[in-house]
Amino acid sequence: MTTPSPTAPLLFGFYTLLAQVIGAGVTVLAFEATNSLAAALTCATISAIVVAHFLGLSTPWRVINGILPLTLAASLAVTLPAWVFMIPLLTLCAIHAPAFWTRVPYYPTSRAAYPLILAELPPDRPFTFIDIGCGMGDLLIFLRKHRPHGHFYGIEIGLVPYVASKVKALLHGGGKVTVTFKSVYKTPLHDFDYVYAFLSPAAMTQVWAQAYREMKPESTFITNSFKVPEVPSYQVNIKDHRQGVLFVHRMGERASHHMPAQSGGPVQRPPKRSEGGS
Ligand SMILES: C[S@@+](CC[C@H](N)C(=O)[O-])C[C@H]1O[C@@H](n2cnc3c(N)ncnc32)[C@H](O)[C@@H]1O
Repeated sequence: MTTPSPTAPLLFGFYTLLAQVIGAGVTVLAFEATNSLAAALTCATISAIVVAHFLGLSTPWRVINGILPLTLAASLAVTLPAWVFMIPLLTLCAIHAPAFWTRVPYYPTSRAAYPLILAELPPDRPFTFIDIGCGMGDLLIFLRKHRPHGHFYGIEIGLVPYVASKVKALLHGGGKVTVTFKSVYKTPLHDFDYVYAFLSPAAMTQVWAQAYREMKPESTFITNSFKVPEVPSYQVNIKDHRQGVLFVHRMGERASHHMPAQSGGPVQRPPKRSEGGS
């Protein structure tokens, strides 16, 4: 598992800024050499993408770095009312604002984890599954497609993610996906056979205390990448860029496992089957 470094956001901001500064330098040189704004902007875009690539920024951020000079030039060329610039800001706030008080930002489960989570769920009998903090709801829709006997629940407190997942549940849930605007701390967990959490280290102690109190012995708690204060029944490595891990806790085995000496962790379960995924 990759442990998030506290300096990562600073480093990321510095890298993005560096890509733009280098891009701006190239733009000035290109403009002086060609006297063409189009050529200068093309150079700015290409150089920002190339620098972002070599600094190791992800593909979406390379694209954002690339279009930034163009949008900047467009905003200087066209006079837009000031409120237009508020739209992206307000949208970002509606997605990420809860992170200020929950200390859980929005980022989706990677697609590579989908079939691994699916493999934990029974293919041939009814069950209930809840994603506590379901984000945009894509995982729920995927699971419901491949596990027709399950009923899938999502709870979310971010406004935009909630609306997005609610709409997806209505459109693609086939009556088997229920999304509610609610905090995990106000949602009793005893009715669920599977509880899935992909939150943040800041939330795990409290969430685990709740799961420990409320979940039935025959149920399963799965936490993506962020450990709880108990050794899992087993863990499954996710082969994605985050090198995430699913920690699977069979609730009937609580406190019955001990970290094997010198192994550095619990036994890893071999993959059950390859199914679904995209
Ligand atoms: C890391 S994202 C995971 C999204 C989704 N589960 C997925 O895997 O794609 C965590 C989500 O949990 C939501 N969240 C944070 N604290 C919460 C709480 N107390 N109750 C419900 N949702 C919460 C955030 O708004 C965010 O959308």
